[in-house]
Amino acid sequence: MSARPVGPDDGVAWVTGASSGIGAALVRRLAADGWRVAASARSADKLNALEAESDGAVRAFACDVVDADAVAATVAGIEAEMGPIALAVLNAGVYLPIKAEAPDAAAMKKTFDVNLGGAAACLAALNPRLAGRRRGQIALVASATGFGGMPTAAAYGASKAALINMAETLRLELDRWGVLVQVVTPGFVDTPAQDGNAFPKPFMVSPETAAARIARGLASRRFEITFPRRFTWALKAIYALPRGIWLPLVRAQTGWAAPLDENARPNVDCPVEPAGPAA
Ligand SMILES: NC(=O)c1ccc[n+]([C@@H]2O[C@H](COP(=O)([O-])OP(=O)(O)OC[C@H]3O[C@@H](n4cnc5c(N)ncnc54)[C@H](OP(=O)(O)O)[C@@H]3O)[C@@H](O)[C@H]2O)c1
Repeated sequence: MSARPVGPDDGVAWVTGASSGIGAALVRRLAADGWRVAASARSADKLNALEAESDGAVRAFACDVVDADAVAATVAGIEAEMGPIALAVLNAGVYLPIKAEAPDAAAMKKTFDVNLGGAAACLAALNPRLAGRRRGQIALVASATGFGGMPTAAAYGASKAALINMAETLRLELDRWGVLVQVVTPGFVDTPAQDGNAFPKPFMVSPETAAARIARGLASRRFEITFPRRFTWALKAIYALPRGIWLPLVRAQTGWAAPLDENARPNVDCPVEPAGPAA
């Protein structure tokens, strides 16, 4: 039998990355829809504020998803205090822009640690419980940036592409265990993660709209929950083009076709000898 969407009668919902943006809006939305929600992030103060405003529907469980032992203890703690987790939305993530001409290896590692390693730690703690009960639902929050290359997203886009691939694999395998796996691929959402990003953000939606779209998708068996579709479907169409066409198209659309200032240097701390024959 195919896995089907869970509801509040099946257990509690767990949302990671719940202290701001999409995660906080989704916690409020799920609570309004009748769920009891465990909310996780590192910022205990913000989680406690969510709990305080919720009339008992929301409980705060502060946790850093990079710490796999802490994640395992958090999952055990949620189930001990609130009951079995039926729905998990693995939403914790960071966007750290990378300059291709001078990549910051530490920022790239942090991106993979949080976005991919965090999801892996959550799945390691969750899957045996949900599969053992033959009932559950897991949504991995990726991004439309995972559809293909995008300037500044050498780490972020790679991590989100990996999450899409991971979700596909989990969906293939976990269906027979009664666990429904979905992937969320938003376009631009107006959250703190977008603060300071100067590039154009067409069709950006509010966190509340994003939460409503995710909640609607979670009530279905649809594999991919993507929005706003006029943006994400257009992006999918562009990425389906031969690379020889989309490379100049995306470069032009994102401003990366402009010629460089001749004095531009990759990194001021790393003087570069002019190119030429070796002495
Ligand atoms: N905004 C967009 O346009 C957009 C588009 C597509 C996809 N997304 C994805 O949507 C998700 C939510 O992003 P957002 O836009 O809502 O950004 P946000 O407001 O910055 O929220 C990110 C959340 O992740 C949590 N987080 C970060 N590092 C963590 C860690 N090590 N352990 C536990 N929690 C951690 C943060 O909480 P603490 O700092 O308190 O830990 C925060 O709650 C991310 O996965 C993001 O990639 C966003």
